[in-house]
Amino acid sequence: MNIKKIFISVFVLTLTLQLQAKTPEEEGKAIFQNRCAACHNVNKVMTGPALAGISERRSIDWIIKFVQSSQSVIKSGDESAVKLFNQFNKIPMPDHPDLTEENIKNIVAYIKSDTKTEEPATAPFAKPGKKRPYYTPVKLTNYFFVIGYLAVVLALIATYYYAVQFKTFKKDVQHKNESD
Ligand code: HEC
Repeated sequence: MNIKKIFISVFVLTLTLQLQAKTPEEEGKAIFQNRCAACHNVNKVMTGPALAGISERRSIDWIIKFVQSSQSVIKSGDESAVKLFNQFNKIPMPDHPDLTEENIKNIVAYIKSDTKTEEPATAPFAKPGKKRPYYTPVKLTNYFFVIGYLAVVLALIATYYYAVQFKTFKKDVQHKNESD
């Protein structure tokens, strides 16, 4: 394998890894914006309820069933679902039977990540137990990004290297032709 082929394979490989390296939150966000944002906001009541804190109010199984077919849950007589339906003027939420458990779990992960906490920033000692330190989680995806950027830089260097080589080669040929 020559060096050019190695560069190309490294580049293609990291590109593929980057495409696959979507976090659950990112995937959930994409679905949410396409399919839910018309009626829901994480932190505001719109046509549908604000979804912040949903995973504390409801079990994940309940959420999955409700999102796939809210009317089946309501018709089954689920008390809290009926109450909610009445509260929201009996506006039926459309079914999303094609969303998998995984999709819905990712949406819930996105909702968690987009939830605005109501703790005032000016009272840092009010609830010390609830404060979380700022930290950047080291995730596998971060490494993919680093590798990805390195690959781009390497690819640029390689391109430059070949461009220079090609120019020198052309010059050599010209010299040769001239001296012939
Ligand atoms: C056409 C508007 C509409 C769309 C689109 C919609 N919803 Fe809803 N959603 C509602 C309404 C209205 C309710 C209140 C219950 C009812 O009326 O059936 C609700 C209730 C909910 C609940 C229960 C909330 C609670 O507090 O228990 C969840 C969870 C939910 N929706 C998730 C979703 C998700 C996830 C999507 C996207 C895949 C979505 N909804 C799309 C209108 C909508």
